[in-house]
Amino acid sequence: MPHEPNRLIFAQPIRYVRSMKNHIKTTVGYLRHMVALLSAKFARFSAHHKQNLLDLTQVGANYHGDGLAVWTKNVDFLSDPKFVQAYERAVNSGHHFGQQGVKIKIEWRVNTALWAAQQAARLDGDFVECGVNTGILSLAICSFLDFNSLDKRFFLFDTYSGIPEDRTEYAESPENIRQKNKYYFDCYEVAKGNFAPWPKAQLVRGRVPETLDSVAIDKVAYLSLDMNVAEPELAALTHFWPKLVSGAVVLIDDYGWKTCEQQKAAIDAFARKANTPVLFLPTGQGIIVKR
Ligand SMILES: C[S@@+](CC[C@H](N)C(=O)[O-])C[C@H]1O[C@@H](n2cnc3c(N)ncnc32)[C@H](O)[C@@H]1O
Repeated sequence: MPHEPNRLIFAQPIRYVRSMKNHIKTTVGYLRHMVALLSAKFARFSAHHKQNLLDLTQVGANYHGDGLAVWTKNVDFLSDPKFVQAYERAVNSGHHFGQQGVKIKIEWRVNTALWAAQQAARLDGDFVECGVNTGILSLAICSFLDFNSLDKRFFLFDTYSGIPEDRTEYAESPENIRQKNKYYFDCYEVAKGNFAPWPKAQLVRGRVPETLDSVAIDKVAYLSLDMNVAEPELAALTHFWPKLVSGAVVLIDDYGWKTCEQQKAAIDAFARKANTPVLFLPTGQGIIVKR
């Protein structure tokens, strides 16, 4: 009993010191976590910023844009007036890609699409794009080929409001899809206005693959896949494969991008089964020519 009063005297300060210690531990842990998070964010920001600031044409590259730089190559397509006109029409489509007010530099990608379209224009069959948004690639094609003069239709499949976020079958994480969707907006009216001068271009609004059968398409000469998700791209390729005429070109916009590995895996598996090679371009695009 004589010790009882002492215990009472010391118990409270000891409890106080212990709880302070725990509190400090939690706070230090939280601060460490925040510092790690902020430095990761800063590293990402400065890498992105550096990439944007770096202009390799200042150190001899004769093209630099879209994660691609070349030296000592013939890039005369860049100054071909017909290309310049098509490119201008395309990039001024009202899209939300890149930094606001800065013209996106995807000339090489557009040039590949124009090559594919020229090949396809000589064949029997229609043109199809799955993943259109405001229509950069397809507008370039319509302008470059003078699409009104061709005996062809151009089917443009898109939700015109981004990647569906409720598809549980997508392997891509919902967070990744939300990130990608930051570039998309309800662009149906914008796209409709953009393609108005080319009445043979038909917007098909809704989700791929559900919309693919909603229009009668027998033969396809050009198929562009650009939906930024593997499943609908694979479904579209599978759907149109038997309709592709011999020599038809399939252009896969995201094929070789580091951020699109699921799309590449799906296309590669399809190509192996179909016994057809995929040409991988440094632009990140992939090309299949149907035999
Ligand atoms: C990268 S953008 C297309 C860019 C376009 N090719 C261009 O040249 O401007 C991807 C588009 O795919 C569409 N998309 C994604 N998943 C889709 C799906 N399952 N069905 C229809 N459209 C889809 C999005 O709405 C978005 O507009």
